[in-house]
Amino acid sequence: MCGIVGYIGQRDAFPIIINGLKRLEYRGYDSAGLALFDQELIYKKTKGKVADLEQLFKSVEDKKGQIGLGHTRWATHGEPNDINAHPHVSNSGNLVIVHNGIIENYEPIKQTLLNRGYQFNSDTDTEVLVNLIEDVMQKEQVGLGKAVQIALNEVVGAYAIVVFNRQKPDEIVMARLGSPLAIGIGKDEYFIASDATPFIEFTKNAMYLEDEQMAIIKKGKEPDIRNIKDDRKIVPYIQELQMSLDQIEKGGYEHFMLKEIYEQPDVIRDTMRGRVLPEQNLIKLSGIDNHLNKFLNADRMIMIGAGTSWHAGLVGEYLFEELARIPVEVEYSSEFRYRNPIIKENDIVIPISQSGETADTLAAIKLAKQKNAFIYAICNVVGSSIPRESDSGTYTHAGPEIGVASTKAFTTQVMVMAMMALKLAKEKGTISMSEYNMYLSELASMPEKIEKTLQTDLYIQQVAHHYKDATNALYLGRGFNFPVALEGALKLKEISYIHAEGYPAAEMKHGPIALIDENMPVFVIATKKGQYEKVISNIQEIKSRKGKIIAIVTEGDEQVKNLADHVIEIPETVEAFTPLLATIPLQLLSYYIAVYRGCNVDQPRNLAKSVTVE
Ligand code: AGP
Repeated sequence: MCGIVGYIGQRDAFPIIINGLKRLEYRGYDSAGLALFDQELIYKKTKGKVADLEQLFKSVEDKKGQIGLGHTRWATHGEPNDINAHPHVSNSGNLVIVHNGIIENYEPIKQTLLNRGYQFNSDTDTEVLVNLIEDVMQKEQVGLGKAVQIALNEVVGAYAIVVFNRQKPDEIVMARLGSPLAIGIGKDEYFIASDATPFIEFTKNAMYLEDEQMAIIKKGKEPDIRNIKDDRKIVPYIQELQMSLDQIEKGGYEHFMLKEIYEQPDVIRDTMRGRVLPEQNLIKLSGIDNHLNKFLNADRMIMIGAGTSWHAGLVGEYLFEELARIPVEVEYSSEFRYRNPIIKENDIVIPISQSGETADTLAAIKLAKQKNAFIYAICNVVGSSIPRESDSGTYTHAGPEIGVASTKAFTTQVMVMAMMALKLAKEKGTISMSEYNMYLSELASMPEKIEKTLQTDLYIQQVAHHYKDATNALYLGRGFNFPVALEGALKLKEISYIHAEGYPAAEMKHGPIALIDENMPVFVIATKKGQYEKVISNIQEIKSRKGKIIAIVTEGDEQVKNLADHVIEIPETVEAFTPLLATIPLQLLSYYIAVYRGCNVDQPRNLAKSVTVE
């Protein structure tokens, strides 16, 4: 996710854009830039925060102009640095663009433009797009609006773009597919932004472009809204905004955590974008492709991480061993780094980290590198320390995770490992082509299944209210869902401060069952796949001791319904992908229990989003 702000009208654009970018920093904050046009084009950009950008605009002259655009970046292609920061300018120096999204087919387009003599300074897909638009303008001899439309019909991916031509500074063009774009409508002025926070104090009249729509705004004229594909004119729906600034930043949700739980279908789509290609029977992961022999000859994978990322590694162990038959060990970074581990030449060390800055994980990587291990990072923050220390890796593309409790980071980490395991299983022939195709199409269906799972929200609120005063809780799962039990317990304890423990369900009889009484809620993942009958027996053991049972089941399950106190249904999927669904109700349960208990959900006591100290 990135934050975009544009303006065209009667005011000085600079303060509107710079303050608007500050309000959008929750969408991305690794680099920022701003362009204005008055007598000439002025644009500055830098790695770092919007405040660092503001420092670059020192003179009054620098801040002139009634048309401009700005960007605060969450890097997806190209390290966060000054050159890769937006805005990007076309080769002629005339077109200026900011972009939120991912252009999947930018490489072949870039090659075509290179062959036509275009030059590129950055590693970004966005610089390719602005030069494609310029190329169309020159070849077709059309204006900016038509050139944008033609160019966007050539690209594949997701985008929200704002672009202007310094030769015609009375016009600004915007378009969207998959990334949001709001247009604030003032008196002879227009505000364009990723959401309404940058312009809420100037106007409450806004319209939101729909997917595959674009707008051409000329000073003194009504916006021209078009459908990108067929050029059909669109009558805009203008609404009066009621939300507060704070609510808009959170997308209308009460907390970032709930917003990020609900973002999971879309961010899982972003994780798969350009990588899971069922129509081609293909999984494209350049990190794997560039080191395929290392993975095919690996004797062992060692997953290292902390907290939720460690839980994701445990799911990865089941995925890689089940599908690709590669032995896996999972280690806490903090333990691995101090115990002089044995690492062999054909081992692959896989650090998993949302922030990419966890001190223990970073230290563990450095130790592994001293022992000549190959390091493959699974990380969310592009250009953070852990990927920079690693030999290669795959980014999760989950967008910024602001809530301290990890939610979308976990599911996107699991999705990356599912893609990796499936790709390697096909390369190693450890699964048949029919199994591979089945898994691939099931993977592609996960966003819709997560959306369906989220529809249990209202019922989960009732269940959460029932158990909000518990003092202890147990979470049980087997197989692929044992790590999900651990993750559910961590979510509850870190935001509601209720003591909770996760266990393999079969472990109950080895001690924890002594804890069971009528005051103990037990959350059991009892989906139809795997050791279903064994889990049923565990549920009966708990019931006979008056424990309260909240079961996560496969939709349509009648058997558990007769045993449990509460049943939350999730769509059916293959056992290996159950964690992607079973985790969702547990995230919602912990969220609502914490809200009912009046806890600070986004910033729980004693915790930090990234543990950059030992
Ligand atoms: C999980 O909800 C916590 N935020 C915490 O356990 C976190 O997963 C852990 O600190 C690891 O962080 P990382 O993924 O950024 O390395």
